[in-house]
Amino acid sequence: MQIVHTLPALADALQPYRHPAVVPTMGNLHEGHLALVRQAKPLGDVTVATIFVNRLQFGPNDDFDTYPRTLEADCAQLEAAGCDLVFAPSEQEFYPEPQSFRIEPPPDLTHMLEGQFRPGFFSGVCTVVMKLLACTQARTAVFGKKDYQQLMVIRQMVRQFNMPIDVVGGDTRRTSEGLAMSSRNGYLNAAERAQASELHASLQDLARAVHAGDRGFAALEAGAMDRLRASGWQPDYVAVRRQKDLQAPQPGDALVVLAAARLGGTRLIDNLEL
Ligand code: PAJ
Repeated sequence: MQIVHTLPALADALQPYRHPAVVPTMGNLHEGHLALVRQAKPLGDVTVATIFVNRLQFGPNDDFDTYPRTLEADCAQLEAAGCDLVFAPSEQEFYPEPQSFRIEPPPDLTHMLEGQFRPGFFSGVCTVVMKLLACTQARTAVFGKKDYQQLMVIRQMVRQFNMPIDVVGGDTRRTSEGLAMSSRNGYLNAAERAQASELHASLQDLARAVHAGDRGFAALEAGAMDRLRASGWQPDYVAVRRQKDLQAPQPGDALVVLAAARLGGTRLIDNLEL
């Protein structure tokens, strides 16, 4: 596996290939990320992972400075997962001047859910993903469904800009207790960790009720939020939406239920397709 830190070295390393399959990450890798790499492997002639903690998608009170940076361990895991090439640029390399050109996703995709609670987040994500997909010459790009709205926004960006890239979604990897794997799970203390599986459990119960025919989504959402509060969480939202654009469901739509909540100082998200 080759590890490169500069754009010219990346271009050199990609030279022999026609179909890079790319997995963008912010590092501190876990089984969820590695599953995406294994999923990408048969989809291209070279498997590329990027590792870059993207300042543009962090708010002023977010954890940019403390976000775990574990490049050496990440590269060892990527190599074991069959990755061929890692692009891990410095901030100076990737943003040598202030990134004043931005991709602004349309408000109908970002006024709700994560976008409502993290202003500027999707603009930061789209801007870095546009740059990462361009410089890795991606022909396939794999993103996790764990970040469901992110995947939806990126799909639409790639489509509207006619980027010649297949965007592929990967299933969410979970711990044995059901907690969706996340780099931010490392922030939880032992007591919080014991409560953490409630987020997934609440979504499962809500999904079960919808499955059984309950269409009172507002009451179900409120009930799930009450349950989370009762077990020490501070929920930002629990929402039943349609899968394709995360708007309010119409009869016949395929559904997904999404949640974001804080446990102590840690904000986690999760979702479940029905
Ligand atoms: P990061 O949080 O590092 O996640 C990188 C990729 O791994 C994303 O596509 C995310 O959805 C996926 N992922 C995270 N946890 C997962 C899990 N438990 N199971 C399956 N996939 C999982 O998402 C980002 O970075 C950034 O926003 C990025 C797209 C790299 C742009 O900076």
